[in-house]
Parts: sequence; C-alpha cells; structure tokens
Amino acid sequence: MLRALFSVALVCLTVSAAQVPASARPVAPDGRRAVLVTGASSGIGRKTTELLAARGFFVYAGARKQEDLDALAKLEHVQPLRLDVTEQTEIDAAVATVRAAGRGLWGVVNNAGIGVFGPLIELREEELVQQFDVNVFGPWRVSKAFAPLLLESKGRVATTGSISGVVCWPMGGGYCMSKHAVEAFTDTLAAELSAFGVAVSVVDPGNYRSDIEANARERLRAQGWSGEGSRWREAMERMLAGSGDRVQYKEPDAVAEAFFHALSDDQPKRRYLVTPNAREAELTVRAALARTVQLNHDQPWALDREALVRLLDEELERVGE
Ligand SMILES: NC(=O)c1ccc[n+]([C@@H]2O[C@H](COP(=O)([O-])OP(=O)(O)OC[C@H]3O[C@@H](n4cnc5c(N)ncnc54)[C@H](OP(=O)(O)O)[C@@H]3O)[C@@H](O)[C@H]2O)c1
Repeated sequence: MLRALFSVALVCLTVSAAQVPASARPVAPDGRRAVLVTGASSGIGRKTTELLAARGFFVYAGARKQEDLDALAKLEHVQPLRLDVTEQTEIDAAVATVRAAGRGLWGVVNNAGIGVFGPLIELREEELVQQFDVNVFGPWRVSKAFAPLLLESKGRVATTGSISGVVCWPMGGGYCMSKHAVEAFTDTLAAELSAFGVAVSVVDPGNYRSDIEANARERLRAQGWSGEGSRWREAMERMLAGSGDRVQYKEPDAVAEAFFHALSDDQPKRRYLVTPNAREAELTVRAALARTVQLNHDQPWALDREALVRLLDEELERVGE
C-alpha cells in the first residue's frame, strides 16, 4: 500500500506545470493576469502587491482593516478585497468577487501571517491554535477556495514560508511549527496539482523589515502576558523590550522579487530562499543538512558518505546546478 502511494507520488512529481505553454494561459482584456495577495496591508504583502502591480499584474489585495483597504485602493491596478484568512465567509465572498470580475485568476500569494512567541511548554492552547489558524489553515483555506479558478488558468500558488520552516529557535516554537507545516503544505499541494498544470512554490524569507514583531508584541501585551511564574521570564522580557519595529532590517524588496519570479517565470522554483545576508542563508542550509545527517545516522540502512554525496549530486543536477 505504502509502496503504491510512493509510486503515485513520484509519477506526480515528474509532471511540471512549466510544461504548460504560456499561450494556453488566460489573460484579461487589459493584458494583465490577475493574482491575489493575502495580508497586503504591510510588510512583505504590501511590497509584493506594489511590485506585481508595477510589473504588469492585476492584484486583488487582501486586507482586514478599512484604513488599509482604502490605502490599497489608491494603487494602480490593485483592487482591495476584505479578507481575513480565518473567516470562511470572507474567503467565499472574495472568490465570488473574483469570479464575477471575469478576469479569472492566475495566482494566489498566501502571505498573511502572524508570529506567536513564547516557550512551548507555557503556550496556551488557544495561542497555538491561533498561530496555525492564520499561518497554516489560512493558506489551505484560501488555496482550496480558489483552486477551481487556478485549475482553469493552470496558474500558480506561492506561499510565504520562512527560514523558520527549516531552522527552529527557542520562544519561536509555535511559529516554527507553523512554518514547517507550510513546507509540507507546499510539497503536497505541488505533487497533487502539478498533473493539472498548476505550479506551487514557497518563498522562505530571512529577517526583513515589517510589522510582524510589533504585532506579535502587541498581541502578547493585549493578552496580558506578565511573565509571572515563567521559567523564561528574562528571555521573554528581553524579546519584548523595544518597539519591535525591525528598522534594523532591510525592506523586503528581494522577497517581492521572488514572488514575481514564482508567478511569472516559465520554470518557477519550488523553494525560494531569500535572506538579507550570507549568514542567514548558510544557517538555513546547514539546518536542512543537519536534519538529513541526523535522519541517516545510525539506522540499519544508513547511507555511507559516498552514497550521500551521490544523492547530493543527483539533487543538484535536478535543479540544474
Ligand atoms: N518579516 C520577516 O522577516 C519575515 C520572515 C519570514 C517570513 N515572514 C512571513 O511573511 C509574511 C508576512 O509578514 P510580514 O513580516 O510582512 O509582517 P506584517 O507586516 O505584520 O504583515 C502581516 C500581514 O498579514 C496580515 N494578517 C494577519 N492576520 C491575518 C488574518 N487573520 N487574515 C488576513 N490577513 C492577516 C496582516 O494584516 P493586519 O495588518 O490586518 O494585521 C498583514 O497584512 C508572514 O507569513 C510571515 O510569517 C516574514
């Protein structure tokens, strides 16, 4: 049974959406392909919305607050949509709006996300549920609801993952768990949809400027976190000190560029690792390698060094290096 499942998976993985000729893809009368970006009010989502609209797409920009919808409405080739990714009724209404507009939908950028911070053994269940509701169930709900349109266009799904989908860090357990789930979501969805011509990618950013940290702190404070009785009080207080405005980091222009590539290139990559420096890139690749080595180590069918290097060479060849 298991063997049969693996065989099916391997067959699916070999069919690439990039094989769909560009001429077969629907284009609206103004020549702009429509894409949806969730969480477009700030940070990576806002940058990606601006870049995609400037580079020839028509962008449905999802936001929750009226002031953000109003600000997005001022951008050319952008139509704001009220969209909380935890609210199925809002998602259904967004699908109806996009369908009624008659442009079809070429791509979904699942970008909306939050960070829930705190030591795993002290997190309240509702905090972890909220983390997954936005970061994991959000992309799943949105991709599922828009799937009929994406199957029609043989389009694209691209989700904002994170280097935290590979690297884990203390006080970030909930966030890291959610971003690891986004990696699995991407690979499974890609295996399922590639046979229908839909390509699926994940963009994994390192640290960039955005409101994510300030919002996370705000949420913790609003929930009345005091550190009372916590074994990690000091570490948490250190984390919560300051404004969390992330001005020390670069603007996420490179992240928006990765989304542009995922949506416009004939050969979109499965994974886009986008970091502001070599250190964060190496940290991430090393963590992925460490996991492989740990998985292989001291088990009855462990591959020796030569076999590991051969596998590495095969994977490098697969991605064209
Ligand atoms: N910045 C980084 O360094 C970094 C690194 C790796 C990954 N990421 C990921 O990048 C994505 C965007 O985050 P960001 O860093 O740009 O932070 P951000 O500025 O806080 O943006 C987050 C966006 O998600 C929206 N959002 C939150 N909850 C939502 C919900 N329930 N439904 C719909 N939208 C919701 C926010 O809308 P509101 O304004 O209404 O709250 C906002 O538009 C996230 O998935 C995050 O995990 C960021």
